[in-house]
Amino acid sequence: MTGDRHRDTVARSVSLNQVWILIGCVLISGWLAVLLGCSAETPSSPPRSSFTSAAEPGLLDPVKLYRQARCDRCHGADRQGSAMAPPLLQLGQFWSEDGLTAYLADPTGSEENAARLETLTARYRLVMPSFKVLSEEERRALAQYLIAE
Ligand code: HEC
Repeated sequence: MTGDRHRDTVARSVSLNQVWILIGCVLISGWLAVLLGCSAETPSSPPRSSFTSAAEPGLLDPVKLYRQARCDRCHGADRQGSAMAPPLLQLGQFWSEDGLTAYLADPTGSEENAARLETLTARYRLVMPSFKVLSEEERRALAQYLIAE
């Protein structure tokens, strides 16, 4: 009798163990699937800023772009400059359209105005961020606007 009950208990605990192993397998494979799914979705490129490019090139409004790309936060709403960044007025005297378009994508690598930029960098605590997130057309539209006005 006792032996039977003992065998019963052993049998039950074995099948219970199997159930736990099964649950464990299901959990682990589910977890793996999630892990794989996540890593598959992870973009290989660095995260973009919250600013997304305008959908319609050719209809670019540089005044809107200036606000959307948050240039105003540092350079001021009217481009008059602030304690954080220089004014962006009458830039036509310093910049070519191509030079300024390139500068917006890679401010630290600009050959045009290198000496002036060094002085500006020393004067302001913040640095001009790269706007590679903008398309070439968007950067060019901004450059034309900043040079013209
Ligand atoms: C985080 C603050 C910040 C933001 C945002 C910012 N800038 Fe700047 N910008 C600077 C600083 C600071 C400088 C001065 C150079 C330096 O220190 O890197 C500068 C320099 C410049 C210059 C060179 C000025 C000159 O006299 O030659 C241009 C042009 C310019 N920014 C355009 C823009 C445009 C266009 C945007 C938006 C797309 C923008 N900036 C957004 C901080 C900022």
